Amino acid sequence: MNYRHAYHAGNFADVFKHAILALCLEHFKTKDKPFFVLDTHAGIGRYDLSGIEAGKTGEWQDGIGRLQDAATRGALSPVLLDALRPYLDAVAAENPAGGFRVYPGSPCLSQHLLRDNDRLFLCELHAEDEQTLWQTVGRDKRVKVEHRDGYEALKAVLPPKERRGMVLIDPPFEQPDEFDAMERALADGVKRWASGCFALWYPIKDRLEIATFHAHLETLDLPETVALDFYIRDPQQIMPGSSLIGCGYVLVNPPYGLMRVIEPLMDGLLANLRQDTPSRVAGKGAFWRLQTLKYA
Ligand SMILES: C[S@@+](CC[C@H](N)C(=O)[O-])C[C@H]1O[C@@H](n2cnc3c(N)ncnc32)[C@H](O)[C@@H]1O
Repeated sequence: MNYRHAYHAGNFADVFKHAILALCLEHFKTKDKPFFVLDTHAGIGRYDLSGIEAGKTGEWQDGIGRLQDAATRGALSPVLLDALRPYLDAVAAENPAGGFRVYPGSPCLSQHLLRDNDRLFLCELHAEDEQTLWQTVGRDKRVKVEHRDGYEALKAVLPPKERRGMVLIDPPFEQPDEFDAMERALADGVKRWASGCFALWYPIKDRLEIATFHAHLETLDLPETVALDFYIRDPQQIMPGSSLIGCGYVLVNPPYGLMRVIEPLMDGLLANLRQDTPSRVAGKGAFWRLQTLKYA
């Protein structure tokens, strides 16, 4: 396990991942009943953007850096600001003295959005990272941190007693069979918790691989499922070994609240994070796309 998220924290892919995660959680808060979140691949929870790792790549500058800059200039439209509010508020909460140095990973983002009776279950398999995560979330009766395989935890933990909530599956993609592992975990997870929302994040390093993944999911017995892909440059620029320019989410049982704002949110993220001319179609520049894999 060599992957270190600190090199990539706050980049365009994290902004996409975390803005959507925050919106999902915000949606669960529209009802009083408590919700549950399982984060199968949690990381260390919080990242120092002035640290050595973030400084080596500088990736955050073209992610949260750009977005914050646009927000400070008042250049974000009201509808986009509204969609980004839960995410940007969580980022601001990590930097109480103002300025912008600390970036919340998915654990801290979720922790920030929990209410008193909501629960967060965090799995991290890297022993040192699990210790850091444990210290990061601190004493919080709503949050449990475990040093274990997130895919295994899914079997032990689902369905949660709350019956509402979501599972975030965000592996490091170091293993060649990670898409297969995700697919198996999803099929099993949905059997255990058919009403849960499942969010599977993936990097797009090979478009055929993603098309195959989506096609496999179409054959599974799933409830409503969509795939949301986001490219900051023309997908034709994807080359083996080149830097990441696209990523996506498969969302099973996507919250209605998210689907209502998906278009302005994605248009806004594209406008602010793109590194190419924007386009409505693949092969002509930066673009995003929502595909339905399974209808409700
Ligand atoms: C992409 S990072 C997670 C980032 C985090 N979800 C966020 O958004 O802030 C993936 C993490 O999964 C951990 N990991 C790798 N394999 C795992 C497994 N089978 N179960 C749990 N954690 C694992 C890695 O150590 C790494 O910290």
